Order: sequence, then C-alpha cells, then structure tokens
Amino acid sequence: MKSKNNRNKNLVVLIATIAATGGLLFGFDTGVISGAQNFLQDPGGWGISDDQLEWVTTAVLIGAVLGAALSGRVSDILGRKKVIIAASVIFALGALATGAAPNISLLVTGRIIIGLAIGIASFSVPMYISEISPTRKRGALVTMNQLMITIGILVSYISDYLIANDANPFSWRWMFYIGLIPALILFIGMFFVPETPRWLIGRGREEEGRKVLNKVEEPDLVEEAIRKIKADIARESESAGYREVFKPWLRTALFIAVGIMFFQQFTGINTIIYYSPKIFKMAGIESNTLTILPSILLGTVNVLFTVVSIMLLDKLGRRPLYFIGLIGMIAGLVGVGLSFFFEESLGSSLKYFTVASMFIYIIFFAVSLGPLGWLIISEVFPLKVRGVGMSLGSLSNWLFNGIVAFTFLKLVNALSPAGAFWLYAALGILGIIWGRRFIPETKGITLEKIEDYWREGRKPREFKE
Ligand code: BGC
Repeated sequence: MKSKNNRNKNLVVLIATIAATGGLLFGFDTGVISGAQNFLQDPGGWGISDDQLEWVTTAVLIGAVLGAALSGRVSDILGRKKVIIAASVIFALGALATGAAPNISLLVTGRIIIGLAIGIASFSVPMYISEISPTRKRGALVTMNQLMITIGILVSYISDYLIANDANPFSWRWMFYIGLIPALILFIGMFFVPETPRWLIGRGREEEGRKVLNKVEEPDLVEEAIRKIKADIARESESAGYREVFKPWLRTALFIAVGIMFFQQFTGINTIIYYSPKIFKMAGIESNTLTILPSILLGTVNVLFTVVSIMLLDKLGRRPLYFIGLIGMIAGLVGVGLSFFFEESLGSSLKYFTVASMFIYIIFFAVSLGPLGWLIISEVFPLKVRGVGMSLGSLSNWLFNGIVAFTFLKLVNALSPAGAFWLYAALGILGIIWGRRFIPETKGITLEKIEDYWREGRKPREFKE
C-alpha cells in the first residue's frame, strides 16, 4: 500500500509539474519583454518611441483579458487538457510571430496572440492542477503555479541576458523565439497527462474519471472524491453564474477580489517586472546588456521570497503579511523615487540606490501581495461561484496590469520618475487603509465556514479561526 501511495504522489507531482509549465510560460512571456525593450528602442535598429514601446508591452495584456474571459466556457466544453494544449500551440505561434515580426504592427499582433495564451493559462492551469490533485495536497500543488510564474520570469531574464548582444540591435528576435522551447515542452507533456476526473465525471464519463482517480488519489479517498465531485456538480448547477456573484451577500467578496488585484497591480509591480532594465538605464547603466544583470538578481529574489511566503502564509496568516508587505513595498517605492529625485547630487551612485530600493520593494511584494492576490481570490468565494468569481478576479488583474503598463512611461514623462514612483507609494498607503477594513483572515478557516460568514453578514475583519 505504502509503495502505491508513494508512486501516486510522484505521479501527481509529475502531472502537476507538466501542467505548471503553463505557469512558467506565463512568467516567461511576462518577463521576456524587459530585456528586449532597450534593443527595440536602439537607434541602430527599429528605434521605436516610448509610446510604441508601451503598445508592444501592453498588447500582451489585451490578449490576456480576452483569454481569461473566454477560457472558462471553453474549458467546460472541450475539457481542461485540450484547452491547455491549445494554449501551448498559441504560445508557440506567438513566439514565432513576435520573433519574426517584420514591423511594429505585426509585433504588436504577435504579442496579443501570446497574451491570449497567457490569459488562458492563468486560468486553466491552476484549475487543472486543483482538479487533478489529491485532496490533502491541493493547496501546496496549486501554489506551485505562482512559484512557476516567478521562475518563468527569472528564466526569461537569464535567457534575455545570454542572448543580448550590444552589437546587434535585433537581439530581441531570439529572445522571443526562445519561448518556443517551453511551449513545445508543454505541448508534448500534456499528451501524457490525463483529463481531470472532475471534468470527466461532469460529462457523465464516470468510469474514465474513476480510472484517473485510482491513479492520482489516495486509495481510501477515491469513492469519497467521486461522491464529492457529484455533490459539487449538483450544487453548482443549482445557482452558479455571474448573476449570483453580484448579489448583495457576495458583494463584499467580489469587492475584496477586485480590490486586492487593484492594489497588487497599482502599487507598480509590473513596472519593475517589465521596465526594470529601462529604469536601470534611466539610473545611469549604459550598456543594454548590462541593464539586464540587476534584473536577473531581482528575478532570483522574487523566486526565493515566493518560497518564503508559501512557508509563512499559513503560519503568520494573510492579514499580517498583507500589512508588512505593503509597508515594505511603500518604503521601496519611496526609495526609488528619492534616488531619482536626488539624481544630481547622487551622480553615478544613483544606480546603487535605485537597485537597493527595488530589492526592498520586490522582497516585500513576493512575500505578500504576489501570492496573496491569487490565494485570496481562490478563498473568498463559495464553491458554486468560485469559477466565475475567480475569473472576474483574474480578469481585473489583467485589466489593472494593462492600465499600469500602458501609463507608466507617460507618467514618467509627465511627473518625472520620482513622481511616478511616489504615486504608486501613495496608492500603497490607500491599500493599507482599504485592507484594514477589507482583508479577511482566512487562515485555517474552511471554505464552507467562509461561506457561512458571508451569509451571516459578517464583516471581513471579524473572520476568525
Ligand atoms: C502578479 C503578476 C506579477 C508577478 C510577479 C503575480 O502575482 O499577478 O502581475 O508579474 O506576480 O512575480
């Protein structure tokens, strides 16, 4: 029995890892633009303007909003597995289209295609993993997706750095082409993993579903899992849907999901993820290639502190991490602003202050708002509206992300770099005030109990284990 359990465990980890390659691609294609930016703007190459660069960067997010909105329905019809396979094909097409783009409009189009794949992956991969995981391991396996996103960002920085060549202003082409490799791994890998039992049983294919469960679930839990899936499906069809999630008793939950994504994005994380080499260039590092180096360190710190966060979330709880995180992020943002504000007196040491402040910022983001955003949206909704609730949460995430990415360089030009970062810091302060009222402590509370609390009309602050 024990050896069968071990085998199950390894198999499940393998299956989850293959699917989480989707998270890695999400991260890779998020981060890859950063190393490409200075090359795209290089006067020896296309020499595109700041406005055009914002389009190239933001195009992904337009696609992602579409992808996140579409994938819920499609994954119900086609199944989770086919949707992830489709995403890998779209990822691959996007990598080719962006790498080979003959002009800026086609580059923007290629980035929209990639975005579509990212939007689909950001929704369907966590869903696939949560449905294929044995009950007792679900939390840890789902969080693996966030870790893979940060690893994907780091991999893209490293590959950008290795490919970057100051003598070749078209170095960006190969940076985009490399995205083909993880897309192919995902594509091939997904043929070897099963469809989820939940989807199969929902389609009346109970025997196939049981076969998969026999492979992945602990033997004593198989029949119980099937019963639970059937009960869930029955309950969901009672009153699932968008209308329910807008009803008064769930309005606070929806406000929390959209709110946490607002503060996750409007405190400027992706200006750092997308634009850090450009920021380092503003801070005085001249070589296009060398501007990527501190970004690699930032990416590494992001991965490491996501691991720290996974360890802390269930010990310290959500609320303390939220506030500690935001305070640290605000300090980092004020620091980045100050280092630009005192540009003249700091001279060549500006870059050290900027880099140090960005590290403070990313450390505190990685332990708090990074994982918390995705965790909270998966916890606050009752089961029957979790699907639509989560897709509204991720949709807002992409929308806010798009707005920030699209306005960052405009803000820098209008307010100066210092002004832009101080604005994000001010929004962080607003986030603290908002969080005092709205961030619930969900640590150790079952999801059913959270639902009861909403029905009783409890305030999020009054949630207790
Ligand atoms: C955010 C992304 C961000 C990433 C950085 C995620 O939680 O949603 O927008 O790029 O963290 O690690």
